[in-house]
Amino acid sequence: MINVLFIDCCIRGEQSRTKRLAEAFLSALSCREGVLIERLTLMDEPLIPFSNGFFWQRERLLEAGGLDHPRFRYAHQFQQADKIVIAAPFWDLSFPALLKVYIENLCVQGITFDCDEKTGTYGVCQAKKMLFLTTRGGAFENGPLDNGTKYLRDMARFFGIPEFTHIAADGLDLGREPAEAILERAIGRAQEAAKTF
Ligand SMILES: Cc1cc2nc3c(=O)[nH]c(=O)nc-3n(C[C@H](O)[C@H](O)[C@H](O)COP(=O)(O)O)c2cc1C
Repeated sequence: MINVLFIDCCIRGEQSRTKRLAEAFLSALSCREGVLIERLTLMDEPLIPFSNGFFWQRERLLEAGGLDHPRFRYAHQFQQADKIVIAAPFWDLSFPALLKVYIENLCVQGITFDCDEKTGTYGVCQAKKMLFLTTRGGAFENGPLDNGTKYLRDMARFFGIPEFTHIAADGLDLGREPAEAILERAIGRAQEAAKTF
């Protein structure tokens, strides 16, 4: 059985175009045998950024080796997944802060990464692949301002995940082409990608 962790950061829920793209991918993926999809809807999680007591609790736990504390459950779940799918819209040249807060909670030495004198920092996640699905109002594909994809690619490397790919419906709100046509094309690419993911 291949365990796929789907991280849903499509904040607009059922109105989200990114969610539509993601559901098309997941539906194609679920047709394959031996694939188990675990969903994590970030909007339903009690995620908070590090601040005050929440930050210091983490420091105390790390010092005491308390990696089994419930606050590290996201890191354990992410570390154990065989494949990772993240869906999030393009917001403010990146992605919603909620996803960054989630990532902040994932980065735990001894669970998702480690370090030693010889190698420096290295990822210890099991996943072999990470896929990022997104939609953008403007056209940023392969441009220097697509900070979201670039950052997630770097994080995949940090976590030790060797393959990172992304699929974007780009330029949806520019009026150069009907948004529906752009989205349908991205959905087609996502369905194709699901066959080999
Ligand atoms: C809060 C917010 C910030 C956004 N920031 C950008 C942006 O920086 N650049 C851009 O081209 N589009 C931006 N957009 C437009 C979205 O990228 C676009 O509408 C996308 O398809 C939204 O995805 P969704 O339907 O999954 O929510 C933004 C939209 C919202 C709601």
